Amino acid sequence: MQAPIGIFDSGVGGTSIWKEIKKMLPHEDTIYLADSANAPYGEKSKAEILQLSIKNTEFLMEQNCKLIVVACNTATTNAIDYLRANYDVPFIGIEPAIKPAALQTKTKKIGILATKGTLSSGLFHNTSKLFAEGITVVEQEGKGLVELIETGQINSIVTRGLLLSFIRPMLDQNIDCLVLGCTHYPYLIPLLNDILPKHITLIDSGEAVARQTKAILETNSLLNSQDIDGEYLFYSNKGIEVLRNLVDDDKAEILYLDF
Ligand code: DGL
Repeated sequence: MQAPIGIFDSGVGGTSIWKEIKKMLPHEDTIYLADSANAPYGEKSKAEILQLSIKNTEFLMEQNCKLIVVACNTATTNAIDYLRANYDVPFIGIEPAIKPAALQTKTKKIGILATKGTLSSGLFHNTSKLFAEGITVVEQEGKGLVELIETGQINSIVTRGLLLSFIRPMLDQNIDCLVLGCTHYPYLIPLLNDILPKHITLIDSGEAVARQTKAILETNSLLNSQDIDGEYLFYSNKGIEVLRNLVDDDKAEILYLDF
């Protein structure tokens, strides 16, 4: 099916997921919506996150998207049940990868870095209870990180300092796996690799989301049969320079849209 895959996030972070989708599904067209004017979602109420997720979904539905990837842990954990129940396309979500971390940890202690909105959600609690039995889950809000990444500060002194202040207490509790529970955080991996001791495993679910997207397209006979590269359209409602830098693809069309 020729129609595009729709992807949305509170801002630029979901481009980390878009990159995995592009790699795994090179013939698919994509439309990405960055609601940067309303970032961060993580500090908003569940009702606000739901309202924004509905608005983003309706925009992507108007663009005739055949499947929607909620490339935001905060929106997934607070809104995906509602979206699935009310819109007639498949939805793929992302939530902190507790299960793979619980399977890998040797110290039986895992760290989760995520937004307040994700950590306080019912879905996160249910997943924790289901997959982390007998494991200590050290939760840490990444307050302020999304704002720094939205302004392009993926490697600044301020970002490093803030990240260190979040990581140290988790290391003190002897975690050996760190789950990146926000789609903005993969852009901090170079900094994290520099900061973290070598025995800490970083866990990020971007590739798993792309794999799931492919599987659902296949099951629903929605794959694009074209054998040329996909077309990539990006919309943002706040300055597009940071988005352009992170997308880093000459073929992508990146537009400002007042929505
Ligand atoms: N990328 C979003 C997430 O995965 C960021 C949330 C926010 O805007 O606070 O949670």
